[in-house]
Order: sequence, then C-alpha cells, then structure tokens
Amino acid sequence: MTTSLSVIILAAGKGTRMQSAKPKVLQTLAGKSLLGHVLDTCHHLTVDDTIIVYGFGGEQVQTAITNQYAHLPITWVAQTEQLGTGHAVKVALAQLPKDGQSLILYGDVPLVSPHTLANLQTANTDGMSMLTLTINNPFGLGRIKRNENGKIEAIVEQKDASDNEQQIKEINSGIYCVDNALLHKYLPELSNDNAQQEYYLTDIVKMAVADGITITAIEPEHAFEIEGVNNRQQLASLERTWQSKIVQDLQIAGVQFADPTRVDIRGTLTAGQDVFVDVGVVFEGDCTLGDNVYIEAGCIIKNSNIGNACHLKPYCVVDHATIGAGVDIGPFANLRPDTVLSDNSKVGNFVEIKKSTIGNGSKVNHLSYVGDATVGNNVNIGAGVITCNYDGVNKSQTVIKDNAFVGSNCSLVAPVTIGDTAIIAAGSVITQNVDANALALGRARQVQKPNFQRPTKKLK
Ligand code: UD1
Ligand code: CA
Repeated sequence: MTTSLSVIILAAGKGTRMQSAKPKVLQTLAGKSLLGHVLDTCHHLTVDDTIIVYGFGGEQVQTAITNQYAHLPITWVAQTEQLGTGHAVKVALAQLPKDGQSLILYGDVPLVSPHTLANLQTANTDGMSMLTLTINNPFGLGRIKRNENGKIEAIVEQKDASDNEQQIKEINSGIYCVDNALLHKYLPELSNDNAQQEYYLTDIVKMAVADGITITAIEPEHAFEIEGVNNRQQLASLERTWQSKIVQDLQIAGVQFADPTRVDIRGTLTAGQDVFVDVGVVFEGDCTLGDNVYIEAGCIIKNSNIGNACHLKPYCVVDHATIGAGVDIGPFANLRPDTVLSDNSKVGNFVEIKKSTIGNGSKVNHLSYVGDATVGNNVNIGAGVITCNYDGVNKSQTVIKDNAFVGSNCSLVAPVTIGDTAIIAAGSVITQNVDANALALGRARQVQKPNFQRPTKKLK
C-alpha cells in the first residue's frame, strides 16, 4: 500500500538580515530562487501536494513561483503572524489529508537532496523521522536529546538549553517526515511556554515519545544540504559550496577546468570527455557539451547544446543555440536564441547571429549580423555582411543557398533569396532575388579621373 506524500514548506520568515526588499526565499542561489530549489527537489519525489506557508512578501512570492512552477500542485497557506515553526505547520493543517505523511522543509534551506529526502521517508517507520547532524559548532540550533540507549527523547532549543544540553553536538536540521495523523493530533496541543514564547514544532518530538513512538534520525550525505540562508554572506558561502560540488562532479565525469573556483554553473551542465573550460566561464540553465569541446575564457553559455570538438574562443555569448560538431566560434561572437550552427561551420569575431541556421562548413568570419536567415552549406559570408531583416515593422527572411559567396560589406535586404553558387559582389545592396550561379552587383560603378589635380590652398 502506498500512502500519500505531502510536502509542507515553511517560508513565512521575513529574512530581515538579507536587508532586501525581496522576500528571502526569492533570493537566488546558482541562478534559481531558494524556494525554487526546494520545489525542484520535491519534483524528483512523487509528491501529492506541496503546501507553501507564506508570510512576508507573500504576493511577490506567489507571483514569482506560480509563473515558474505552474506544473506543480501548490497550495498556498498564509501565516499572517510568525508565531513559530509549530504555528506555521498548524496553519497548514486545514489543507493536510488525515492520513499519509508529510515532509516538512524550509524555504530557506535550498540544497537538501532528493536522495536524502527519499531516505528520510524510508526511515519513517513508526510515525516520525528526522534529519540531524553532529557538528562542531552547534550554537543557535536545536539539540537532539537522546536517552542512555541512544533513543531520541526531545529537541531542546538553544535558548531553552541547560549548560549540559548546550554541550550536545547533534543538531536538528528542522527537516522531518511525519505521519499526518500525528501532526493533526499534536499541533493543536502545542504551547508557547518557552524562552522565545514561540510555538515550537520541535515539541512534537517529546509528544511522540510519550506516545511510545520510536523516532528515527538519519544524516544527510552532505552537510550543506541542511544549511540555511539568513544573510548575504551565508548565501555567498552556500553558493560557493554548491559550485564546488557541481564542479567536482564534472571533474569526475572527465571535464578539465583551468581553475575549478573560477567557473559558475547556474543550472545543469552535462559534458562529454576531454572537455576543457577556461576561467570566467558561466553556464546557465540546461547546457550540454559533447566530447573534446574547448571553451576559452569569459564565455557565457545559456540553455545551449554544443557538439563534439567545438572551439569557443574568448568572450562569446551563446544563448538558446544549437551548435553541431567541429564548429569554431569567436572570439567575441554573440549567438542569440534559435541560432543553429551546423557541423564544421565557423563564426568569427564580432558576429551576431539570431534565429538563423548556418549550414555545414559555412563561414561568417568577421563583423556580421545574420538574423532570420537560412544559410545553406559551404556558404561564405564576407566581412561586414548585414541581413536587413527589419523594416521597422516586420521581420523578413533571408535565404542563402549552398555554395553561395557573399562579398564583404553587403546588405541583403530581406525578404531575399540568394541562389545556389551565386556570387554577390562586395559592397552590394541586394534587394532582389539572385539566381543560382549568377553574379549580382548592386553598387555604383567606379569612376576614375586620371592625373587628378588636387585642390591647392587659396592665398588671402
Ligand atoms: C528551527 C528549529 C531548530 C533547528 C533550526 C534549524 C524550532 C522551534 N526550532 O529553529 O531546532 O535547529 O530550525 O535551522 O522549530 N518559519 C515560518 N513561520 C514561523 C517561524 C518560522 O514560516 O512562524 C520558517 C522560517 O521562514 C524558516 C523556518 O521556518 O524557513 C525556520 O525558522 P527559523 O526561525 O530559522 O528557525 P528556528 O526556530 O530558529
Ligand atoms: Ca526563530
């Protein structure tokens, strides 16, 4: 029998220490909001419902998340006053099924892994399991009290802890898996009779123990999984920790980084073997690199696929582009969305390409703009060629067929088609279609005045 799984994400805290107009859970780590990380992690599990308890900046949080996570079943619950973690879960009770179980997560603890959560769920055999960790500096966190047999008895908060209890190094992450029946039973009974006058969720532990329930604790695989974010320093430090984890995984998979601390991966990077990535490279979104890809300094690559043995010279921007095998790009190339570069093509310096396909072996080597164009195979586009794709109102297409040669500094006024193997003379403005095999010239004929007498300076 499978029981239903709900996720309750506590995200009502104000995050005062961020010193930001933006709610804390919308601050970004590796290019994604903290809450977004938690939601993506839940998405890896089979979750029946996700309840987000929101408070400060609730509307902003809802708008941002609803737009991005329309595919997830999310129930929003407002906690108008932040009276403690126990109170936060209590306001969610009305939305919580009577049976099944819940994972309780924090919106500002972004990096807990799906693997750890699956383990936590498995560990819940008697009603309640929790994620704990033994650390050197437990100050400020709830401590796990165990009896002489090592069984969990209670959680005591820093501010309520006796001197002895403060010596305990096993801390509460705040992440639990609890049977819904127990949440329905215990939460209405919580009191705020403690040092902070808060309703502590942690008190459900001693209530469960009193009912004879055995609570299982497991540890996360990585300490960073339970790290929370309260200020910009913690955010930056967790960012670095996460970046080095991603980079290490890629190194194991065969990627060579010139300096593993000087690359940023804000999303998912999948890479083949013998890939080299120089310093200052940023990957965003979902990117794939084939084998033997060589990326030089300062490139920015977003949501793009780059085929085997491509070479990106310094400072290229590649955004939503698909690059075949053996393609040379840059330096300083700007590949905008919906660019397709076919195998063995070449795009050189100061070339901008948008919504265009460049065929096999074709070259756009210097100072060009190619937009809304379909370029065939083995085409040469000379220096400074511009597709005039926009008349101020509409965008029009340029088609350049196989083996065509477009001389330097031409303007191709779209819509226009250049036939197979046609030649366009340098400096032409092409406004009409050019037939296959033709030479087209669209420029003033050169005039020469022999032995021209230069003007001389007039005497006053
Ligand atoms: C809590 C735990 C503590 C644990 C620590 C781990 C309690 C009583 N204590 O500490 O044992 O070691 O987390 O970080 O549970 N929140 C709400 N509404 C509230 C209060 C909190 O949504 O009324 C949210 C916060 O936004 C945050 C999370 O709950 O995401 C934890 O709150 P926080 O105040 O950071 O935790 P503590 O109570 O200090
Ligand atoms: Ca608190």
